[in-house]
Amino acid sequence: MATRRRGGSTEQVLVAGAGAMGSQIAVVCALAGLEVGLYDVDPAMLTRADRELRDRMSKQIAKGRRTAAEVDDAFARLRMDTALSALTGVDLVIEAVVEKLEVKRALFAELDQRCPPGTILASNSSSFVPSQMAHATARPDRFVNLHFFNPALVMRCVEVVRGPETSDATVEAAIDLVERIGKLPVVLDREIPGFVANRILNAVRDEAIGLLEGGYASIEAIDTACRTALGYPMGPFELMDLTGIDIGYLTKQARFEETGDPADAPSATVRAKVEAGHLGRKTGRGFYTYDEHGNRTRPT
Ligand SMILES: NC(=O)c1ccc[n+]([C@@H]2O[C@H](COP(=O)([O-])OP(=O)(O)OC[C@H]3O[C@@H](n4cnc5c(N)ncnc54)[C@H](O)[C@@H]3O)[C@@H](O)[C@H]2O)c1
Repeated sequence: MATRRRGGSTEQVLVAGAGAMGSQIAVVCALAGLEVGLYDVDPAMLTRADRELRDRMSKQIAKGRRTAAEVDDAFARLRMDTALSALTGVDLVIEAVVEKLEVKRALFAELDQRCPPGTILASNSSSFVPSQMAHATARPDRFVNLHFFNPALVMRCVEVVRGPETSDATVEAAIDLVERIGKLPVVLDREIPGFVANRILNAVRDEAIGLLEGGYASIEAIDTACRTALGYPMGPFELMDLTGIDIGYLTKQARFEETGDPADAPSATVRAKVEAGHLGRKTGRGFYTYDEHGNRTRPT
């Protein structure tokens, strides 16, 4: 794809990684009128992304949320390839590959070699900050995190995280892109692991577990207070069951191994759930139990 700029705005993007996040980010960009390349090392992931995206879009057409013409146009703007070289002539790259720092750094080094000098490189990482990745490239001023939320087709917030060397022009272009695709940019002024939303979510979760472990209130009481007094759509235990108790455990364990700070270690309650294989809805049991239809039966 040749680089084509209109008033400095992003017209062509490459999304690297066609998993849960990358596939939806790609179609969001295509629906907004951008030319999109979707790259993955695994051809099966591209096939799956194509099938799942077409399936989702058919449902949206059936519900009257989008027209068939809009969707056809979007797919006509979306190219999928396992050859990175076919897709790198773009204004901006959104990396959404597996959450392994060395894989991301290697990919950014390659993108730096292959992309035009003006291309902005962005990571959708949930935990790595720009300063951990930007120096794999010779353009740390053109490096930024664009943190989408799951499911990216639905969730409006995108955190824009600048590293110490990210230029103002890069942040402006990132904000511009987020708005262009119909999302809401939330800009951080300094990088910090976990960014804003997940840090606050984690603090709420830790406090909820502390209250439970201290014997102050039951799982149900804590969830009910969060829903009815604070207006949360779900209580912290309900949410952990939904997202998978192991996911939060692994994130905290990794952080603890990095910092050695006991405050970062997973709680005894969460550790016990993970060791017992009670990971939430996906195993039929977590903080609550669920029947075969996924309906909640009772707290465990
Ligand atoms: N899942 C979430 O809720 C969520 C939310 C926000 C951000 N993120 C972040 O998004 C990124 C992707 O997460 P996901 O849940 O979509 O993962 P996923 O496992 O669903 O997909 C990752 C994809 O990356 C591909 N891949 C691996 N190495 C690659 C490489 N070198 N080049 C190209 N493709 C490669 C894999 O084949 C796979 O298709 C991670 O950095 C994660 O932290 C995830």
